[in-house]
Amino acid sequence: MAIRLGDTFPNFKAQTTVGDIDFYEWLGDSWGILFSHPADYTPVCTTELGRAANYYPKFVERGVKLIALSVDTLESHKGWIEDIKSYCPELRDKDFPFPLIADDKRELATLLGMLDPDEKDSKGMPLTCRSLFIVGPDKKLKLSILYPASTGRSFDEVIRVVDSLQLTVKRKVATPADWKPGCHCMVLPTLTAEDVKKNFPEEVTVVPMPSGKEYVRHVTLNNN
Ligand code: BEZ
Repeated sequence: MAIRLGDTFPNFKAQTTVGDIDFYEWLGDSWGILFSHPADYTPVCTTELGRAANYYPKFVERGVKLIALSVDTLESHKGWIEDIKSYCPELRDKDFPFPLIADDKRELATLLGMLDPDEKDSKGMPLTCRSLFIVGPDKKLKLSILYPASTGRSFDEVIRVVDSLQLTVKRKVATPADWKPGCHCMVLPTLTAEDVKKNFPEEVTVVPMPSGKEYVRHVTLNNN
């Protein structure tokens, strides 16, 4: 099933490293990130889960809950977490901060379209790709990214897109390429000059373009 941006993310029940959960109940009113990895006890996945755990406080600051998934068993997840903690010194002697879903029957991975037919286990069964869904407090899909097994994700980028998503629900802007908090934003191109006056106490700069069209309007937001 392909979940499209704006779709209501399907609810599900799952077995996790912190017990059985109902996704919506677990999420409550928070933002949520559900991300899959190909397999436990693999090197790139170890770095990804370690980085996500290390960044956990950054996600908490932003009101975002994390949950990971692969087509491995609960026992496998629990054993692998000890390896992740050993590999990432900052995680040692701490509880692993977020749950891992055990989806060894591939039910959820199939429902959410996370299986990569080109990446198989030793029995020829497909593994999960590096899929990541950001779900809003309204349970709608706000963003998804899809990486192959060979390429580990940047969790700095995941934080960056959370910041953009959370900003753009509050203000009538879009964030440009490589934007980071504090950088200028783009006024939404759909806003009229009158709308701009109403919505921005900040200075808005119209950038002259050879076309003469006034669609590039920079604004550096207060408090961001
Ligand atoms: C890894 O996490 O290192 C990995 C997993 C599956 C295929 C290739 C790499």
